[in-house]
Amino acid sequence: MAGPFGVLPGLELLQNCASALIAGLNPAVVHNLAKYMALKKVHYLSAMEDVDGDYCEFGVFTGSSFCHSIRCCGRLTRLNPNIARTTFYGFDSFTGFGSLSGDDRHPFYTDGNFATNLRTVERRVRRAAGDMAFKLIPGFFSESLKHGAHDMGIDRIRVVFIDSDTFASASQALAFCGPAMQQGTFIVLDDYFSYRGREDRGVRRAFSEFAAESRIKTRRVLTYGMGGVVLVVSELPLRTQGANA
Ligand SMILES: C[S@@+](CC[C@H](N)C(=O)[O-])C[C@H]1O[C@@H](n2cnc3c(N)ncnc32)[C@H](O)[C@@H]1O
Repeated sequence: MAGPFGVLPGLELLQNCASALIAGLNPAVVHNLAKYMALKKVHYLSAMEDVDGDYCEFGVFTGSSFCHSIRCCGRLTRLNPNIARTTFYGFDSFTGFGSLSGDDRHPFYTDGNFATNLRTVERRVRRAAGDMAFKLIPGFFSESLKHGAHDMGIDRIRVVFIDSDTFASASQALAFCGPAMQQGTFIVLDDYFSYRGREDRGVRRAFSEFAAESRIKTRRVLTYGMGGVVLVVSELPLRTQGANA
């Protein structure tokens, strides 16, 4: 006679196989697959809401998530042709993290793990982009983001993707984007729970300081992978409204 858990005890072999398979998966691959799915959802939701504006990614590395965003939008132009007006901006030093201040130091966020090559990334993105417009902006954010989104011709942002891991870089990225955010801008924050979950470190600290200073209000849309969070701007004071809103 079946016990309270039905046939579960008899499924040991199946459960062991599933467990062995999951345990053997590379965690980076698991995270990236979830990241791709989250970006797909974000682009879909923003196309459905007919949010106008550009895509800004901070932390491009080899360009895989950047190319993925371009591909998702390419597909979505059938649903909403306005999506084709998106320009994709990618910001990265393309040499890694540089020297990190005490609070930003982390065992995994090191140049050795994240050195790449701008020309190779550019070739890869060009192949994925086809007719879609994109710009890769090399340099450390302390230099490349000095002048704010509007000065770079970015009037409104549809999707912000922060994947540069540290407090300083995420703060600089959010300050850059703030004036071009609008109601409906999606903010994707990778590594939100890094630094052992501390609220006074990393991307989490950068976002809470930015939200307090800009008085922006957001709602959580979803979480993904190994600690990514997606928010949508639900309300913001007029002074930070996108230029043409
Ligand atoms: C996790 S990787 C990005 C992964 C990429 N989004 C993907 O999914 O394929 C983090 C990147 O952030 C960049 N980065 C971190 N801090 C930076 C800073 N202060 N200025 C410029 N780039 C930075 C590093 O060079 C690295 O390529």
